[in-house]
Amino acid sequence: MKQAAATVADPALIAAAAAILEEGGLVAFPTETVYGLGADAENPDAVARIYEAKGRPHDHPVIVHVAPGADLGYWTTDVPEEARKLAQAFWPGPLTLILKRHPNIPDAVSAGQDSVGMRCPSHPVAIALLQAFKGGKGGVAAPSANKFGNVSPTTAQHVRDEFGMDAHDDGALNGDDACSAGPLGMVLEGGSSEVGIESTIVDMSRLATHGPVLLRPGHISAQQIADVIGMLPAAPDQAAPRASGTLESHYAPRTPVTMLAADALAETLPKLQARGVKVALIGHALPASLAANAHRVLPADPTGYAYGLYAALRDMDQTGSGLILVETPPQGADWAGVNDRLRRSVFGSAGVIASLLK
Ligand code: TXA
Ligand code: MG
Repeated sequence: MKQAAATVADPALIAAAAAILEEGGLVAFPTETVYGLGADAENPDAVARIYEAKGRPHDHPVIVHVAPGADLGYWTTDVPEEARKLAQAFWPGPLTLILKRHPNIPDAVSAGQDSVGMRCPSHPVAIALLQAFKGGKGGVAAPSANKFGNVSPTTAQHVRDEFGMDAHDDGALNGDDACSAGPLGMVLEGGSSEVGIESTIVDMSRLATHGPVLLRPGHISAQQIADVIGMLPAAPDQAAPRASGTLESHYAPRTPVTMLAADALAETLPKLQARGVKVALIGHALPASLAANAHRVLPADPTGYAYGLYAALRDMDQTGSGLILVETPPQGADWAGVNDRLRRSVFGSAGVIASLLK
């Protein structure tokens, strides 16, 4: 896995960020998966500010982030042994556990559901923030720090781009900037998120009746979970708790995105170009000889590919192209997280090539 740069937490910035959270403000912070937009999980007004800033519908619950060693019994009512084992095996790290919600969690966090998503992230800046906030006893409610439906941010600059902020709009450092920081009190820097796609989500709240359910695939695979608890998480059923990252359309740049296998891509590209369509390519094995308006080659392994995927979608979105064409990645189990996100990015684009070729 690539090492993220600039991951050392500056104590003065962390203290300032924790103070903003304690006052009910919003702080964007790095995690190893993607950047989060955090608020005090126990303050419904602060949580409402997240929804407002993101333009997120209110029926989509947010994950509560806690420091290493946090007391799960404060946040949840029933922690099955299997959930404890998963927390022990994978926290701090890119795994979210859905558990029964304790009344300490306001309705606003869980969108009225009786469950709550809990996660202990491993990024050192996130850990420092969680340890400083309420003396390490708080919970930070945080979705990904992007506008609803957009590509998740994997750098602090992506966050600023999402919310129309300048590089010096850090809120707390400089009084002059505080007002121009908009809805975000501060953006903490932490380099490029080393995983690059959102956490794996496993529903453990209905274990007795449904077993573990994989609500969102990610870097931690279903098999790794099975290796720890002896049960392979099932695909979501109708009654599974809602997860907005599981909407059919999500993680989408403004430019239409579609996916084609390498052969079909090589055949279609010149036809599109003959029609004057500027095409941006994202591939992992495409020949360099394919000339396009823009071209990003991602590593041909799922970890490296996930690390670069969201930055590639954002960068290709900025190239003035009429279409982003993605070479279909391999379909093996290791690629489940990548394929899940790409499927949602391309959702609704089935007719786009045909209409461009008309
Ligand atoms: O890696 C991550 O999980 C990142 C970082 C910031 O931690 N967060 C993230 O949050 O991806 P968000 O809000 O973009 O996606 C969280 C997903 C959503 O699909 C939400 O619906 C689901 O988690 N979720 C949260 N609480 C839930 C619950 N109680 N039941 C079912 N799904 C839940
Ligand atoms: Mg999100």
